[in-house]
Amino acid sequence: MDLALTIEPMTHADLQAVTAIERESFRDPWSLHSFQTEIETNRLALYLVGRIKDEVVAYIGAWIVLKEIHITTLAVSKSWRRRGIASQMVGALVEMTGPRGAACLTLEVRPSNTAARQFYEKLGFAVMGRRRHYYADEDALIMTKNNLTAPEEAGKGEGHEQ
Ligand SMILES: CC(C)(COP(=O)(O)OP(=O)(O)OC[C@H]1O[C@@H](n2cnc3c(N)ncnc32)[C@H](O)[C@@H]1OP(=O)(O)O)[C@@H](O)C(=O)NCCC(=O)NCCS
Repeated sequence: MDLALTIEPMTHADLQAVTAIERESFRDPWSLHSFQTEIETNRLALYLVGRIKDEVVAYIGAWIVLKEIHITTLAVSKSWRRRGIASQMVGALVEMTGPRGAACLTLEVRPSNTAARQFYEKLGFAVMGRRRHYYADEDALIMTKNNLTAPEEAGKGEGHEQ
């Protein structure tokens, strides 16, 4: 679907909308202050929002460390899911870090978060390991996508595997 999604760096003015999506998306949501610290003081961080008209509908955050893009958060407003927005957010993230020459994407995901796992699998991520007790109530799976040869490939699906 051709949505008029504008993707740009997250600013302080976006934080209320971002934390509203955060609260409806995660059982252990980050505070507004956590996002603020990331965008204002973490020089390794890149946080983006996706907007349709003036509404913030999605966001993604990452730490860029050497050749690795570590996705710290990604969420789409409930009413805007399954329209390719998260895929576009990942693609934009890779594109914007392109000059820094990132070679792989990695993240932690709850084993119980089947929607997110299926989403990342569709983008070509694979489970590479497990971090014990990463969350208060659950381990985390480490998912990675290597060989980011062409930035524009990151946001494209690679076919259903299930
Ligand atoms: C996971 C999430 C970011 C996906 O956002 P989205 O914009 O709906 O994803 P897309 O529309 O780009 O999905 C692309 C593909 O991923 C897969 N996918 C996405 N959501 C899925 C779901 N709920 N169940 C199964 N597969 C799913 C599908 O293959 C989908 O393609 P299709 O719609 O053509 O079948 C969104 O569900 C979300 O915000 N969840 C809550 C927060 C979260 O869990 N974030 C991830 C933390 S690691």
